[in-house]
Amino acid sequence: MRLRLLAATALLALASCNNSKTASAPATSGVTDAMIANAAEGEWLSYGRDYAEQRFSTLKQVNDSNVGQLGLTWSADLDTARGQEATPLMHDGVLYVSTAWSLVKAYDAKTGALKWSYDPKVPREKLVDVCCDAVNRGVALYGDKVYVATLDGRLVALDQKSGKAVWEKRTFPADSHMAITGAPRIVKGKVLIGSAGSEYFSRGYLAAFDAQTGNELWRFFTVPGDPSKPQEGKHLDAAVKTWSGDFWKLGGGGNVWDSITYDPVTNLVYFGTANAEPWNPAHRNTKGEGDSLYTASIVAVNADTGEYAWHFQETPEDRWDFDSAQQITVADLTIGGQKQHVVMHAPKNGFFYLLDAKTGKFISAKPFVEPINWASGIDPVTGRPNVNPDARYEVTGKPFVGMPGAIGAHSWTPMSYSPLTGLVYIPTNNTPQLYAPDPDWKPGTTGFQLGIDSTLGNVPADKKVRQATRAAMTGALVAFDPVAGKVKWKVPYPMPTNGGTLATAGNLVFQGTATGEFNAYSADAGKKLWGFATQSGVLAAPMTYSIDGEQYVAVMVGWGGVWDVSGGSGVSSKITPNISRLLVFKLGGKGTLAAAPPSAKRVLDPPPVSGTPEQLALGAKLYSNSCSVCHGNAAIAGSLNPDLRHSVALGNPKLWQQIVHDGILKDNGMVAWKDQFSPDQIEAIRFYVVKRANEDKALGDH
Ligand code: HEC
Repeated sequence: MRLRLLAATALLALASCNNSKTASAPATSGVTDAMIANAAEGEWLSYGRDYAEQRFSTLKQVNDSNVGQLGLTWSADLDTARGQEATPLMHDGVLYVSTAWSLVKAYDAKTGALKWSYDPKVPREKLVDVCCDAVNRGVALYGDKVYVATLDGRLVALDQKSGKAVWEKRTFPADSHMAITGAPRIVKGKVLIGSAGSEYFSRGYLAAFDAQTGNELWRFFTVPGDPSKPQEGKHLDAAVKTWSGDFWKLGGGGNVWDSITYDPVTNLVYFGTANAEPWNPAHRNTKGEGDSLYTASIVAVNADTGEYAWHFQETPEDRWDFDSAQQITVADLTIGGQKQHVVMHAPKNGFFYLLDAKTGKFISAKPFVEPINWASGIDPVTGRPNVNPDARYEVTGKPFVGMPGAIGAHSWTPMSYSPLTGLVYIPTNNTPQLYAPDPDWKPGTTGFQLGIDSTLGNVPADKKVRQATRAAMTGALVAFDPVAGKVKWKVPYPMPTNGGTLATAGNLVFQGTATGEFNAYSADAGKKLWGFATQSGVLAAPMTYSIDGEQYVAVMVGWGGVWDVSGGSGVSSKITPNISRLLVFKLGGKGTLAAAPPSAKRVLDPPPVSGTPEQLALGAKLYSNSCSVCHGNAAIAGSLNPDLRHSVALGNPKLWQQIVHDGILKDNGMVAWKDQFSPDQIEAIRFYVVKRANEDKALGDH
């Protein structure tokens, strides 16, 4: 696998030498740059609405005095029952959405009639290369086409009218461990897209493709390659000094998996980069310390050439999975009496950053959640964090319970900014996480490559501890004043990973929740004014549009994503089912949803515990580091992936080997682990899951 990665890197490096390619002319009909930049009032043309990604709509027919009359006008059942994370786009009366597994659908935005549906047929095995479900966050519109980037790395241009593929290009080799979950953005005839994968042998980049032909125009790598070879740009010559040892053999991470923001004022594209890979710096900077540039950073490049302009690293030498890939919003703020053109950012690390948009100069960083314990604060001059020595687990050799954890104080769920209130509406998480170094760690072949040991982070089979852990994992909608650097108001939630937000000129903020509500709050004071029971958790951000003088509010619902499939599910099991739908509301809407199917009651009935203490300990470690990312913390699954404590294969060692070793369920997303684990190791995992099932049966926690 590692050889495969190197071959892939060489191939991409070749591609990036071809920097001289010129792009076709920008679109002059259909959706144009000017339309995206000016965000026509009734339409929603790009992921974050306009280039500035403010997610603020000037529509105010629905407002704080009448939102109580908002009702469902139409809904569409989706055929992919996994996390839905997309923001729908609306142009010329048609609503375009992407769903899980990168499908695209077009609906009549007024009536909900399906106009067309496109399925890129993503191989389900690809699930093993994504931490957080087979999600897609949205499409892009440009000229007469719709663009989708698929989980397995293809960029596809579809005809807006028919949904037929016009061209399709690979953005990374088919055997790479990278994936795409983000929405493309389009600027002056160039489709911009990066990739995910900073947990899986990958080297981050942002690339530009010709919107007409799909030809690659430039590729900007975010981390250096093999230091013995020439780097693809001066910015990498500088970065290579911040790494040491064999870092490049694992890829380095720094993937550009979500935010890409174009700023017409500076002609720069700002993007956020992921964590460095592996998480534990002792296993990447193998010969000393270093900041690992340009991971966990905001980077700015020239929109035409992809040339480096500036960078700001928010979490130097990251070891906590503190991506800076979160949405970047551009605004003009008045700071100390002076108007400043800034980028605003609320990354995973818990501090809200303001930077000068043109130069990247640090302005301020203030906490938008509490508590934060990995750093005592941010240096007001340099912008560097004052890191808590205990948080450097690879140095102390001791586990550290970090706040925030890897889920992040804020992740990809979009925030919005209202120029009317001056507030930023951030979906925040409070999810402490245990980080323990694994000094003996070696790179594997399949799944996560973190360099830490997650075994100690398993929630024990103890009712009180479990309840306390559940209670400690929360979320909140935070309205943050970016100039004052203070929280203005806050709505607490019982679970983390609630939906993205939409702010409107009707003094409203809309947000869905993990526990299955879609709510409207007053934007100035955070008063709840309206709510709708969605039957399923909401991750995606709402959007709004207007047709024939009527305002609509749309949101994708469908629980899944990181909290359901990952370690978090162990403490929030079965709270929210996945019922994937697109819901559209307007004033006076009278629609209702078909009743949700009753949740199946299951009783644990495992075979008796077997295996030696050594086998059980080994099984616990292997499960925690390789399987829990999909099957849940301590083998308690969420709603999407099977709960292994209930698997029929638990009492059938041969079937267990066929599934886990040989991969007989690979076409359903469960790959073969034979390159990574021996049959004995796979049997040890079974012993561990049998033990876990027996513990929970005794506890009465089925
Ligand atoms: C990337 C996500 C992912 C990872 C990581 C993963 N699995 Fe799976 N697993 C799945 C999915 C999805 C299914 C359901 C397949 C189906 O529907 O047929 C599944 C099914 C299974 C089943 C069959 C369950 C049943 O319904 O009876 C077993 C057993 C299993 N996995 C064991 C493991 C073990 C052991 C590991 C770690 C070595 C692991 N899985 C890692 C996604 C994953």
